[in-house]
Amino acid sequence: MDSAQIETREMPGPAASALQEMGKFGNDPLAYFEHLAGEYGDYVRMKMIRGEGALLVDPNAIEEVLVRKKKHFIKGRATRALGELLGKGLLVSEGDFWRRQRRLAQPAFHKDRIAQYADRMVALAGAMVDRWQAGQVMDVHDEMVKVTLAIVADALFSADVSRHAGTVGRSLEATLAHFQWWSRYAFLVPMWLPVGPNRRFYRAKRDLDQIVNGLIAERMAKPEAERGGDLLGMLIGARDEDGSAMSARQVRDEVMTLMLAGHETTANTLTWTALLLSENPQVREKLEDELRRVLGGRPPALADLPNLPYNEAVIKESMRVYPPVWVLGYEATDDVPIGPYTIKKGTAVFMSQWISHHDARWFPDPQAFKPERWADPAMKQLPTYAYYPFGGGERMCIGKAFALMEAQLLLATIAQRYRLDVAPDQAIKLDPSVTLRPMQGLKVAPKAA
Ligand code: HEM
Repeated sequence: MDSAQIETREMPGPAASALQEMGKFGNDPLAYFEHLAGEYGDYVRMKMIRGEGALLVDPNAIEEVLVRKKKHFIKGRATRALGELLGKGLLVSEGDFWRRQRRLAQPAFHKDRIAQYADRMVALAGAMVDRWQAGQVMDVHDEMVKVTLAIVADALFSADVSRHAGTVGRSLEATLAHFQWWSRYAFLVPMWLPVGPNRRFYRAKRDLDQIVNGLIAERMAKPEAERGGDLLGMLIGARDEDGSAMSARQVRDEVMTLMLAGHETTANTLTWTALLLSENPQVREKLEDELRRVLGGRPPALADLPNLPYNEAVIKESMRVYPPVWVLGYEATDDVPIGPYTIKKGTAVFMSQWISHHDARWFPDPQAFKPERWADPAMKQLPTYAYYPFGGGERMCIGKAFALMEAQLLLATIAQRYRLDVAPDQAIKLDPSVTLRPMQGLKVAPKAA
């Protein structure tokens, strides 16, 4: 196809007004994207309140945006709004600034470095499970949020944070709740307007800043040899080629980013896994068999993970059925050809794991929870961007190895002790805002495995 043809073609898309379309999106974003992909296919033009949008489903197009033509895209508006809390942290920064920060932080997330957190993950999960009581109904999502926050805080600050755990947890939840709310409704309400949700956000942010800045200042005041090997110690100790370090402000932004990006997503994965195992007893039994055979009742260790392939497949398949991050939003910085179309400067580009991971072209019987599918040799032919729970390209999740290790160790710890039967008569509603979480938690009744 020559370039003249590329210039003139327009993506298909709905004809209704932007207000109507955005109303549908706000009501039920997942159903709206399903409708667009079902009706218009791999490339869909979207009408937004401010300017144009595009939903990309073709894995090649997604690869173009995230990898081959990445330099023409920046993070979208919803992610940029997180900058209000995260400053210039890794998730939201751009360009050379982001590149330097990523270079400084990357070694701290290397497989060998994060291995040191495995035993702490298992210990914290074990303490949680010890508290549970058979037959006593509890909200497993709440439990997963608490334990994953404790794990990331422990990895960041070692023991320093335990005295603040309550405040950190509550404040972080309050800020996240605010973004969940904002991403749905508050394009209409600017952040500076002193309405209730905004006020609660800034109060929570102030509390968090006080604690985090205090911990950073304490640590920076210590002699270099005593700064420790936890993530905070590594961030403070990281040096660029020219010997320069991060400022205290930048360390704050990265710490806040890691706390926020590093717990809810993993918590969602484990909550959805609990739901799927409860709905699929034959999978649960197979998992329990593997755990019994390999662990014989003792807590898992990092070295066990290669011997627990079904445990790994359960997590992988769970992130397919319920992707904890359900959409990536980027914005074109100039006109750029993607697939057979030209995406115009300023267009908001969406790539949705919810849509891709349920695409029957790649995943036959896409709604079914089948960890076995990952053992099928045909899956080796899967296009890279048919399954991308951690994003891709240079902006791929820096915590991927940490998260996978954590999810597998926690699942093994929990599943060999308890079956988490989902309490009957609860409406399980998906809440697709910043992450994909259950709207009203998930009530389960633990039963000894
Ligand atoms: C199951 C768990 C997780 C999932 C599904 C997940 C998913 C993602 C995705 C999709 C992105 C890319 C976003 C984009 O392109 O806009 C991302 C970025 C990021 N994630 Fe994760 N994440 C998880 C766990 C973690 C953990 C445990 C940490 C840290 C301890 C973390 C830290 C980050 C950071 C800092 C970024 C920004 C990286 C950059 O732009 O350089 N994530 N994550």
